[in-house]
Amino acid sequence: MKKGSILFINEKEAKTLITAEEAIKLSEQAFADFSDKKVINPVKLHTPLYPYHDGYTNCMPAFSATQDIAGVKVISVYKNNIKKHDLPATIGTIVLNDPDSGCPLAIMDGTYVTSARTGATMAIFSKYLAKEASEVVTVIGTGAQGLSSVIMILKVLPQIKEVRAVDINPAARKHFIDEASKIYPHVDFVELEDLQSACTNSDIVVNAANSSVLLLPKIKFDKGTTVLVLEEDLKPSYVKKTFDAFVVDFIDCFVERSNISLNHRHDAYGEEVELVTAESISGEIGDVIAGKKSFRESDDDIIVASSIGMGIQDVMTADYIYKKALKKNVGKELEFLDL
Ligand SMILES: NC(=O)c1ccc[n+]([C@@H]2O[C@H](COP(=O)([O-])OP(=O)(O)OC[C@H]3O[C@@H](n4cnc5c(N)ncnc54)[C@H](O)[C@@H]3O)[C@@H](O)[C@H]2O)c1
Repeated sequence: MKKGSILFINEKEAKTLITAEEAIKLSEQAFADFSDKKVINPVKLHTPLYPYHDGYTNCMPAFSATQDIAGVKVISVYKNNIKKHDLPATIGTIVLNDPDSGCPLAIMDGTYVTSARTGATMAIFSKYLAKEASEVVTVIGTGAQGLSSVIMILKVLPQIKEVRAVDINPAARKHFIDEASKIYPHVDFVELEDLQSACTNSDIVVNAANSSVLLLPKIKFDKGTTVLVLEEDLKPSYVKKTFDAFVVDFIDCFVERSNISLNHRHDAYGEEVELVTAESISGEIGDVIAGKKSFRESDDDIIVASSIGMGIQDVMTADYIYKKALKKNVGKELEFLDL
């Protein structure tokens, strides 16, 4: 590449440059490095556009000292995008920078990278928190993140026999089952409409729905269930009375973001404000990966784990794709600086 040029990598290209196994390994490394304080990962800058637009944009910079890579992801979530514009709900762009000069190296896909690393997080939570004999997974919200979650979870738990799909949109359920069963033809994929029946006798429940109504409090979980959450607000009183442990990826970011969301719920739906504190959280997944903590004490524990999503996962995943693209001559070189 010429000095001052950048590599442009689009979503289609990014998809061909990383496997599910590689995405899981990278996020696992990102969490472990975060636990070892080898990364700089500020709390994401959350910019809700309510009440003007029904969506938000987050800015997520990160640096890895172990890999010496730096970058930033800008990600938007507009939950009505599919219906309104026939566009994905979650759309991202990543800029990778040379950490030595700050010079941009790549402007690239952040949409596939987001679903790959988000699914990877669900797989890592499952690997470290679910009971060993887990065989049934329920996915509530079978859109982009729900699909990626199940693809990744089945990589780390190949013994899974049944996957239950719950979504208010039948087309989303069908697309999910069509795509996932191409990769896992031996797994039994079942469509269910009733939340409780879908969660009864399920070992892992993933909530990847972008619902503004809280879904989890409507469900009674069996002993031993591991509940994985992508976005639903978790009120401390509900968590305390329902779960034996509460694990997140990044406590500081989770606390700040939850309190913004719970205040929004107060303004929008008149719900009582309950502030989330670091003390109400059992710990971070990186500490489990690094062997410093463990949260499942018995097969009867009901555990909830929530991912707020970390820039370091995006930057490490994007850097891997960028280096592969350079090697395989994928992407478009664009002159950027006027040197
Ligand atoms: N934690 C993270 O790192 C992270 C990363 C990306 C996205 N997210 C969040 O994940 C959620 C899903 O994102 P996506 O890109 O998959 O969106 P998507 O629109 O592709 O999928 C969401 C699905 O949820 C379904 N749904 C909505 N309400 C429901 C309900 N009451 N019951 C069952 N299904 C319902 C929708 O029909 C849709 O199919 C969003 O809320 C997003 O903010 C979190």
